[in-house]
Amino acid sequence: MTTFRAPKGTFDLVPPRGEVFLQVREALVAPLRRAGYGYVETPTFEDTALFERGVGGSTDVVSKEMYTFVDKGDRSITLRPEGTAGVLRAVLEHGLHRGPLPVKLWYSGSYYRYERPQAGRFRHFSQVGAEALGSDDPALDAELIVLAVDAYRDLGLSGVRILLNSLGDATCRPAYRTALKDFLAGLPLDDATRARAELNPLRVLDDKRPEVQELVADAPLIADMLCEDCRSHHEIVKQRLAGAGITWIDAPRLVRGLDYYTRTTFEFQHGGLGAQSAVGGGGRYDGLSETIGGPALPGVGWALGVDRTVLALEAEGVEVATHRECQVYVVPMGDAARAWAFDLVADLRRSGWAADQVYGDRGLKGSMKSADRSGATFAVVVGDRDLEHGVAQVKDLRNAEQTEVALDAVANQLIDMLTALKERQP
Ligand code: HAM
Repeated sequence: MTTFRAPKGTFDLVPPRGEVFLQVREALVAPLRRAGYGYVETPTFEDTALFERGVGGSTDVVSKEMYTFVDKGDRSITLRPEGTAGVLRAVLEHGLHRGPLPVKLWYSGSYYRYERPQAGRFRHFSQVGAEALGSDDPALDAELIVLAVDAYRDLGLSGVRILLNSLGDATCRPAYRTALKDFLAGLPLDDATRARAELNPLRVLDDKRPEVQELVADAPLIADMLCEDCRSHHEIVKQRLAGAGITWIDAPRLVRGLDYYTRTTFEFQHGGLGAQSAVGGGGRYDGLSETIGGPALPGVGWALGVDRTVLALEAEGVEVATHRECQVYVVPMGDAARAWAFDLVADLRRSGWAADQVYGDRGLKGSMKSADRSGATFAVVVGDRDLEHGVAQVKDLRNAEQTEVALDAVANQLIDMLTALKERQP
């Protein structure tokens, strides 16, 4: 028999690391909730054309990395490679843009890209994302950057750098694109790069190969060609960031792998991840709505990679506190005791405490080992003879002190002790 493994480029989350992922996801979301972002959830697959038009046919994401298939109804469907296009589609479909603006939304989930797997680069990965739609106020661009910084700080992650750029807009980008294309046409580029320079010249600036980096060192920069509106927008973003005490790196060559960006673009990078240094990224996309058939609707957003954030935390050696999973562990010995234990565990859980029990016939020694391993503060040991005497043994696992408690008082006594402990916690 063949045994199955998770598909190439994917991984399973199992405890206790799974719990760390949940905590990280929650920490990335918490600042968004405080800032009035509402939860949105869209399908994990969409019409292929949404991504072709929204993300752009000449991007690697669309041209090489999409999981696309024809469904049984003959529709071309694609597993979402990113979240922005789907969220904007949902906003337009539900008319949220006709209500109060800006529409601020957050989301979290699985994304799929057929990339070459390596450390920190997966085919199935997880993002937390945020989008603010319906306003071109540069305060929103800055707000989003601040919220990401807050999330990283709350997690205890210290090595994140912010790279910031403006990519201009429909007024100034065409002239820049032409200037860059002319410059690239004069370089001795290989055929594939030359083709790319024709199709998507900005991407060539992002080529990681040192020989290409050297060739484009003198390329014209968008910063020198921004129109007045884009320049002042960018200035205000920087003023707001400076006002919030945030330091960033001006990155005039920063381009992103998705075509919808205008004006502000940024990336959050971390040194502990090897080649895949981006833990998050985003920017403004003022023309995307029109591209997918909607009205003019400016927007700005980001997505933070949950997997890469966890890797960055591990690289820094930051421990993420996970919930204590068990407070009371019940060890019944004998059939009658098992029935009583089952009810006690259910009662404790219904009262809001984490309780667990030993299952099957494990013997006292093995059961106490499980109790220790559970991390519980208290164990309740009860045998059939105890039951006959109407008592159970309550053991404090921190100091091994054991007291005999009347059966009908066990639950309340445990709850009192746990409540007292909780109140004493800082
Ligand atoms: P992105 O830069 O393509 O932007 O992805 C955002 C983050 O997702 C990356 O910085 C990285 O942490 C994580 N990520 C991307 N691909 C992978 C992968 N193959 N394996 C592991 N992690 C990965 C977007 O997706 C845009 N939708 C962000 C945005 C929202 N822009 C505006 N609004």
